[in-house]
Amino acid sequence: MNVLFVASECAPFVKTGGLADVIGALPKALAARGISSRVMLPLYPALTKVAEAGEDVASWDDLMGGPAQLLAAQVEGFDLLLLDAPHLFARDGNIYLGTDGKDWPDNAFRFAALSRAAADVAANGIGTWSADIVHAHDWQAGLVPAYLHQMDQPTPPVALTIHNIAFQGLFSQDLMAPLGLDASLYSQEGLEYWGNISFLKAGITYAQKVTTVSPTYAREIMEPEFGMGLEGLLSARQADVSGILNGIDLDVWDPENDEDLVAPYSVRRLKAKAKNRDAVLARFGLDPTDAAPLFCVVSRLTTQKGIDVLIDALPTLVACGARLAVLGSGDRELEARIVAAAHEYSGKVGVIIGYDEPLSHLMQGGSDAILIPSRFEPCGLTQLYGLRYGTLPVVARTGGLADTVIDANEAALTANCATGVQFAPVTPAAFAQAIHRTCDLFARPKDWAAAMRRAMRHPVGWDASSAAYETIYRSMLDA
Ligand code: ADP
Ligand code: GLC
Repeated sequence: MNVLFVASECAPFVKTGGLADVIGALPKALAARGISSRVMLPLYPALTKVAEAGEDVASWDDLMGGPAQLLAAQVEGFDLLLLDAPHLFARDGNIYLGTDGKDWPDNAFRFAALSRAAADVAANGIGTWSADIVHAHDWQAGLVPAYLHQMDQPTPPVALTIHNIAFQGLFSQDLMAPLGLDASLYSQEGLEYWGNISFLKAGITYAQKVTTVSPTYAREIMEPEFGMGLEGLLSARQADVSGILNGIDLDVWDPENDEDLVAPYSVRRLKAKAKNRDAVLARFGLDPTDAAPLFCVVSRLTTQKGIDVLIDALPTLVACGARLAVLGSGDRELEARIVAAAHEYSGKVGVIIGYDEPLSHLMQGGSDAILIPSRFEPCGLTQLYGLRYGTLPVVARTGGLADTVIDANEAALTANCATGVQFAPVTPAAFAQAIHRTCDLFARPKDWAAAMRRAMRHPVGWDASSAAYETIYRSMLDA
């Protein structure tokens, strides 16, 4: 079976968040099941080196305002298809945002071009290769099934995965014709959303199957609280919607073989984790302590991630004698507030604003616990890295966080199944209580070490989930 992945990010080549991790890992897991995938991405400047070895396999005279070609390149086990459209993608800076921090003004054309090109490849194949299934990800690939829907020829079925329903790709209805979309698609039953075009709604409407990245989030987005206006459509399509948990790449995230750690460790050699702890304390300018946990946060700094709640809970964390290391970037105001907090609690709270992949590994390796107070979280990957590294996740009970962490209440501790701490609702008071509970558990070294070992043994790879995707793909072929 051949699958065409269409996405805007893929680790290790280009990454702003968890989407990249998934696109960087799922094709490998599918390959182990005998399913071969090609991953189609825009050719951003970060991919220029990778594209050098590429072979020209398709071209367009005018793709959303300029010429484009498709380069096929095999790199690091990936079969990439890179869309070289310099008028859309050859620009420095963030892949979604200009230097002013705002979305690129032509994002509709940039990602419509990705979707249009992918639809052409899906419909016509490349050389002797053809896709049996198209797997489109998030709003950036949402138009793929819409373009296929308006073609007058047999086309392969599409699975759309929603990684975050908060990002919908909303654009003016005036763009219908410029984007090459049939006017007939502009209706409530099509891709119209409150007077705009919604790329994500187009995907949900025209894809044969819709998945999202955890079972709990799949239920949540059918409710008004989390559905962001698409709950009605998703409920109507309930029979075709499912939630499949993300896994993580067990080779990239492996405490026994992680070059970003100062000392490797494993379930059997847990002691060495302490050396990484010392390194994190030093890197963040934190006063040493063994009496209370070293917490970390590795996150986009946004209200989705509950960073405001984190800031409000800092007095409690510091009063417990704990330490906190924060790595992140995002909302300018939250950045400023967390930096101010690090000044106020100097030696207790340390902050590095920025994006630093190696440091994120060291923090997973060296921290005792990772804090994730998200208001909503489709899946979340940092709690999975935390489990794998014996860094107990302290998480809001929502989405994939609720599905992957087992709360350390007394019953779960007695039953030997706890792997972290959950809390709800997402308020400073409930979060502060969770921090207290974590510090209390840390003060019981035997119970803490047992929870660490369980966390590290908890299955977080792709085995079960890649099998679930295969089942969905096969059901689409049989339909
Ligand atoms: P989301 O995709 O919503 O941001 P996830 O938890 O799914 O959340 O994935 C976030 C990914 O980005 C993880 O791999 C995490 O380690 C990484 N990450 C987030 N912020 C940073 C940062 N400042 N530096 C390095 N890695 C980061
Ligand atoms: C999104 C979600 C996150 C999820 C990631 C990968 O960015 O916010 O929860 O883990 O996609 O699916």
